[in-house]
Amino acid sequence: MSTSNAQPRRQELLNQYQQIQAKKLNLDVTRGKPATSQLNLSDSLDGILAGNYKCADGTDARNYGGGLGIPEARQFAADYLETTAARVMVGGNSSLQMMYQYVQGAFQHGVRGADSAWVREAGSGQRIKFLCPAPGYDRHFSICEYLGIEMIPVTMDESGPDMNQVEALLRNDPLIKGIWCVPKYANPNGVVYSAAVVERFAQLGKIAGANFRIMWDNAYAEHHLVDNPPVLANILALSEKYGTLDNVIVIGSTSKITHAGAGIAFIASSEANIQAFNDHLGIQSIGPDKVNQLRHMRMLKDMDALRALMQQHRAILQPKFELVLKHLEQGLGGKGLGSWNKPAGGYFILFDTLPDQADKVVKLCAGAGVKLTPAGSTWPYKKDPANTNIRLAPSFPSLAELDEAMQVFVLCVELAALDQ
Ligand SMILES: Cc1ncc(COP(=O)(O)O)c(C=O)c1O
Repeated sequence: MSTSNAQPRRQELLNQYQQIQAKKLNLDVTRGKPATSQLNLSDSLDGILAGNYKCADGTDARNYGGGLGIPEARQFAADYLETTAARVMVGGNSSLQMMYQYVQGAFQHGVRGADSAWVREAGSGQRIKFLCPAPGYDRHFSICEYLGIEMIPVTMDESGPDMNQVEALLRNDPLIKGIWCVPKYANPNGVVYSAAVVERFAQLGKIAGANFRIMWDNAYAEHHLVDNPPVLANILALSEKYGTLDNVIVIGSTSKITHAGAGIAFIASSEANIQAFNDHLGIQSIGPDKVNQLRHMRMLKDMDALRALMQQHRAILQPKFELVLKHLEQGLGGKGLGSWNKPAGGYFILFDTLPDQADKVVKLCAGAGVKLTPAGSTWPYKKDPANTNIRLAPSFPSLAELDEAMQVFVLCVELAALDQ
């Protein structure tokens, strides 16, 4: 666009922006929370036990104990994570908490006894490190920052992290003790790791050693937005083949299946790792909320029932994703002002602005009453080197709110570009 064309267009957009400001909107597209209508799908959890607290093995779910989870929940989680019940622990309401507990435990107390504590391997003035495919999930990065674990960003493309980079970094630095992954419908860019990438992941333990852990956060395993969804290779089975099962920690939860704040979370690895983690958690708690585990099993029953429920979620979510994509295409398509992905599942759309524009767009949107995830938050230390990533989370607002928010968003993207 020539300067003479740009000036009137900029004025036109500014006028529209001021009109929107006068409406005093208060819209929020920040976090990937399920909408109330999605939570309602699982309200039968309430009262489902009807006084029957007996688990499959005859234990009383109301009492203490059962650190590994009730047997039927362990079997269910094993089916969900594609492994065996003996390799699974079912915990409380948050997989993020289990990830924190695992990493904190490994850092301070060791993956298998005090001698393997990561912190002992860092000499004076040195810190242990994690690889962080980026953009990624901000709360993974917060765990590292909180514990003082140094984060190294790793490049991603449409098939997953750059494995040449990952392997080279691991070969050269024994202080790298872990890597964060969201292997399916990654938060925030929707990427599904290819079979070749997963196969290379399963062999990383051979390079990185016994104390290295792949934190494989499969939070969106069944959260499809398309028919015939992509298939993620089974890292647990591949790791078993390569003799590296101890290096892999697979994580999931029902947070975006039943009630986000009151679901059940689970973790899978080698039996020895699960036992060691159970010992670690045994210091903190005399067992998880088994009543909630039992409620979930009475409702979810099996993978067929779970998949039927996920179709109901999809019916609510898909129109919201389509609406966001429609606005992006109609408002910005062909203008060269940004790019975005079309995810086959998960909870996010990643928008990339022109270089060095993301923070400006977020600020402009805030000025018009639309709250977006702060620019940079999808990167370690909240530093997006190109300042282009904006994570859009369509799930929580209503269609009407999303419609309004996206009108503001495309306007702000164009305005920021013309300002530049
Ligand atoms: C990749 C990923 N992992 C974990 C979580 C949180 O899971 P939970 O509610 O089980 O702690 C989220 C939530 O947005 C997420 O996107």
